[in-house]
Amino acid sequence: MKLFHAQASPFVRKVMVLIHETGQLDRVELVPGETTPLAANPELARANPVGKIPALMLEDGTTFANSPLICEYLDTTHDGPRMVPASGPERWEVLRMQAIADGLMDAAVLNRYEIMMRPAQLRWPEWSDGQMAKVDRVMDVFEASVQRSGATVDLATISMACACGYLDFRYAGRDWRSARPALADWYAGFSDRPSMRATVPPAG
Ligand code: BEZ
Repeated sequence: MKLFHAQASPFVRKVMVLIHETGQLDRVELVPGETTPLAANPELARANPVGKIPALMLEDGTTFANSPLICEYLDTTHDGPRMVPASGPERWEVLRMQAIADGLMDAAVLNRYEIMMRPAQLRWPEWSDGQMAKVDRVMDVFEASVQRSGATVDLATISMACACGYLDFRYAGRDWRSARPALADWYAGFSDRPSMRATVPPAG
């Protein structure tokens, strides 16, 4: 399998952490997939018409785009503990938390594009504030959630950790920890896992 990949993407990191946690690193070839709406990556665009990473190409050329789909697929191709429960309320809770974490990452990445790519005279501060308000609300949900999740490793906690990691990476000056001590403690432990340490985004 080939994974179109860029280390800075929190969505790619989520897939990579799942790959590490489920022992599938040797089955996935990493293909550079750097892209922006202003500089499309032609190989990626051929594989995934939406032109987004992550995208997972199977041996027969079928390509899965979108990190929840890729994670669900990769959770069926290993024999270890499941990252997404097969059924029941536990399944929906994991998928619900993943969706919220993905929403945080969407808002934070969109705002990053606004700040880094849009010409200064066209920027819209109220729009940026609205995106970061979403981030803050989701972090408050995480604060309550980690008090229940403890040391669990599943797609919910992987997604939450990658969301926190992206804030530290791209919004390093934003103090999310002071008002959320349980989340700060939980993240300090989770981010020390080998899967998280191996996928830290590069500086810059
Ligand atoms: C980033 O550089 O922040 C980034 C790169 C790829 C996807 C999303 C975010």
